[in-house]
Amino acid sequence: MKKYRIEYFEELESTNEYAKNCSQDRTVIIANSQTKGKGRLGRSWSNNPGEAVTMSIFLKPDIEPETASMLTIVLAMAIKKTIDIDTMIKWPNDVVCNGKKIAGILTEMSVQGREINYVIAGIGINVNVQKFDEDISDKATSLFLETGRKYDIKTIVDRVLECFDEYYEVFLKDRDLKGIKTEYNKFLANKDKEVQIISQQEDIKGIARGINDSGELLVELLDGSVYTVRSGEVSVRGIYGYV
Ligand code: BTN
Repeated sequence: MKKYRIEYFEELESTNEYAKNCSQDRTVIIANSQTKGKGRLGRSWSNNPGEAVTMSIFLKPDIEPETASMLTIVLAMAIKKTIDIDTMIKWPNDVVCNGKKIAGILTEMSVQGREINYVIAGIGINVNVQKFDEDISDKATSLFLETGRKYDIKTIVDRVLECFDEYYEVFLKDRDLKGIKTEYNKFLANKDKEVQIISQQEDIKGIARGINDSGELLVELLDGSVYTVRSGEVSVRGIYGYV
């Protein structure tokens, strides 16, 4: 495994925000708790000390900026492999267990011209959370709630890095997801199920068939044509609930 430089903090506002001041490739920022943790779509992601893995990996990959969003798929695979219970991936990168989210990823990127300044891969895994707020308790779960066991956060962090490194090397070699796609599609929660693609313009229904080499979701429509869903544009849901 390549070397990662690790910085640990008892408390940070957000590991992703902190990581924006880093400069060295493969620096990892870990916090025991976050006070202003950020989720996708402007949501917040906070946790009490010792309850969650909250970490950000600062990367300076030598890749085309258009391919950087594929890293979220690489990360989802790493987290799926890290968590030793029965989980699936909700496209593109939520790791779910029994229909509830157990881990999330927020990737942020800075680009100048054709050059990537950085990609920050923020990872949140609900580990020892015993109870979620009522408004999310039907959508969120933790390793503790699923197994009744308390987990050591550091062991999970080490494993995330090990698994990430493995998939990241494959991605850097291929410069796309062709080496990861088949395994990812096996874990796709919506594979061959009806999904709803919710965008600002319209809602479309179809059957999710898996991702392509770029990590886009291929959805088969009623007329047999295939609609390619790019990450970030839309939200994809199962017909009967969150997954
Ligand atoms: C999501 O909404 O699913 C993404 C959640 C990402 C949360 C993690 S926790 C560590 C890192 N720092 C942040 O502020 N957010 C990410």
